Amino acid sequence: MGSEPAIRAEGIEKDFKNVRALAGIDLEIDRGSVFGLLGPNGAGKTTFVRILSTLLRASRGRAEVAGFDVRREADEVRARIGLTGQFAAVDNDLTGRENLVMFGQLLGIGKTRAKTRADELLDRFGLTGAADRTLRGYSGGMRRRLDLAASLVGEPEIAFLDEPTTGLDPRSRLELWDIVEDLVAQGTTVLLTTQYLEEVDRLADRIGVIDHGRVIALGTPEELKDAVGGRVIAVDVDTGDVDAAVAALDAEGGKVVVDREAGRLNVPTDGAARVADVVRDLDAAGVGINGLELHSPSLDDVFLTLTGTRASDEEGEER
Ligand SMILES: Nc1ncnc2c1ncn2[C@@H]1O[C@H](COP(=O)(O)OP(=O)(O)OP(=O)(O)O)[C@@H](O)[C@H]1O
Ligand SMILES: [Mg+2]
Repeated sequence: MGSEPAIRAEGIEKDFKNVRALAGIDLEIDRGSVFGLLGPNGAGKTTFVRILSTLLRASRGRAEVAGFDVRREADEVRARIGLTGQFAAVDNDLTGRENLVMFGQLLGIGKTRAKTRADELLDRFGLTGAADRTLRGYSGGMRRRLDLAASLVGEPEIAFLDEPTTGLDPRSRLELWDIVEDLVAQGTTVLLTTQYLEEVDRLADRIGVIDHGRVIALGTPEELKDAVGGRVIAVDVDTGDVDAAVAALDAEGGKVVVDREAGRLNVPTDGAARVADVVRDLDAAGVGINGLELHSPSLDDVFLTLTGTRASDEEGEER
């Protein structure tokens, strides 16, 4: 293993007919680390992953994966990566075991080795009991695990996980997180895309926030959360009171993010301590409080802080 990064992207741009999906992405991802690419629907996450995994050509820019150029040395790249997510290639009419054996054979590892590897992965992913059922009978969580297992048949150096937990219930999500942590403990580099801040907070060493095909923030989870505030106090006031509330809270310092139409103010804070200050300041200013909650920053809070718009307001983009 050299000291070059697992992934290096320089000025990656992608234009579809009339859509600029990627507007210049520069990134380096260290070997053995987990990088979380966080962004809303249509931000460009899947496009970027597809370019790095050689499924799609960039319009401009260059990228190296495991030290190989994704365009000129695509075969070398493919031999070293695993890919799972929104364009999974598993077959619904095959059983879990058959799918994994098929992937092994496609990789040319031989039937005996493919069977051994399938059993290992079924065991590791808690799917041994369901190994001989077709995927049609799998739950969403089981499918994701099988999908992930399929991408690991070839023991990749680098795993691309495109929204591995979107649509899963909380328990299945936790199970998948454990699996990703195991993978990383074994030295695999992981590039994970997600719409959940909580997920990258738990799993990622570094995070890139992507919006409209650009990286708009880059750093550790701590750095990102510091930018937003470790916790957020969300206060609801009458829309006519918003200006008075902002004035009252500005005295506290810290960047208050305002959603005027909703009459909501998001106040970054380190913990619960400022709740009392916020209530006191608003009361002193004669502003009535309609609601107040303390929560962990969400993707929306990150976006409100970084861009001043809600992630969910992005128009013209659907899954
Ligand atoms: N094959 C394509 N042809 C035309 N436009 C495309 C194509 N693939 C993606 N796009 C557009 O490129 C932009 C980025 O899409 P992409 O799928 O990369 O986003 P994403 O971040 O993965 O979103 P999601 O969270 O919904 O999966 C979107 O505006 C999308 O509509
Ligand atoms: Mg996507």
